[in-house]
Amino acid sequence: LIKPVILCGGGGTRLWPRSRPARPKPFLPLLGERTLFQQALDRVADPDQFAAPLVVAGEAHVPLVREQCGDELAIIAEPMGRNTAPAIALAALRAQEGSVLLVCPSDHYIADAPAFREAARSAAQLAQQGWLVSFGIEASHPHTGYGYLKRGEALADGFRLDAFVEKPDLATAQRFLADGHYSWNGGIFAFGRDVFLKELRRHRPEMAVLCEAAVAQGTEDGALFRPDAKVFETIRGESIDYAVMENTAHAAMVPVSMGWSDIGSWDALREARGGASRGPHELLDCSGVMVDSDGPRVSVVGLDDVIVVVDGDEILVMRADAAQDVGKLDGASLS
Ligand code: GDD
Ligand code: MG
Repeated sequence: LIKPVILCGGGGTRLWPRSRPARPKPFLPLLGERTLFQQALDRVADPDQFAAPLVVAGEAHVPLVREQCGDELAIIAEPMGRNTAPAIALAALRAQEGSVLLVCPSDHYIADAPAFREAARSAAQLAQQGWLVSFGIEASHPHTGYGYLKRGEALADGFRLDAFVEKPDLATAQRFLADGHYSWNGGIFAFGRDVFLKELRRHRPEMAVLCEAAVAQGTEDGALFRPDAKVFETIRGESIDYAVMENTAHAAMVPVSMGWSDIGSWDALREARGGASRGPHELLDCSGVMVDSDGPRVSVVGLDDVIVVVDGDEILVMRADAAQDVGKLDGASLS
């Protein structure tokens, strides 16, 4: 059985005002009726393929996790965010020796869950042979917020990686796209627990030692585990992409087509929703206008490619092509 590790780190300021620090992106029903976090759990709910999941979340979001998924769920509560490498290390240290982990972010939308599970099966096979496996998504444009996977020699259902390049600059991303051998890193990883810890010890020994100490001195409270806050605080935050995946000689990927979107901004959400508005609204002589209102009726006349979001006492109006800038608003970090 594959052990799912669900990462919930909060964030999502570009989806403000719906996404707020107290209820960030993973905990919102952005597409469909279940939240992204609930959908991440639903995808790994098959007991023939997956063991019980382990959630790694910030202490502040533990009540939300429980509200959405019950008290039985095993949770590691981080006292503060130190990015994904330490979060995954905590999970690995708490998982059984010899197990295969499937690390799943909770800030993605995946339309085709069966395709995801099929890829998980392929990835787990490679993981059992000692590979650290990323899910590769076909790159459609030179996005600079993603990691890029360069396919090398073929392996079972995937490829060995010739390179893993996290968040390249635009010129490099354009070159990768033209090259044709690169996929986006979907942010989903499968590896043997012991292989991951060995690679972490090799490439980030200090982080590995501190995570081990934080777990050794941690406390258990029912299904909740808290690493030692004083030790964990001293860790230098870094993502798994930079800390391990760029450095390991054992990186591989499985290509997967599963209707993946990281819905990083309101215009990506507009696309994923097929342009459909939510909440009471009236559009007259508009094209490409999406309204998302949690209460007030929004009427728009004669505008093109505009997104209007109403959330409680906040209203956001923007050109769709400027949606990347929402996170720069003062409002987005204050409330
Ligand atoms: N528990 C926990 N603690 N989770 C975290 C933390 C943390 O400190 N930091 C981030 N996460 C969670 C986020 O909630 C998200 O679900 C996932 O880990 C990935 O973190 P992001 O911060 O969203 O990473 P990114 O989007 O910049 O880049 C990653 O994802 C891309 C695909 O969306 C990388 O893996 C890229 O290579 C990849 O292309
Ligand atoms: Mg992300």
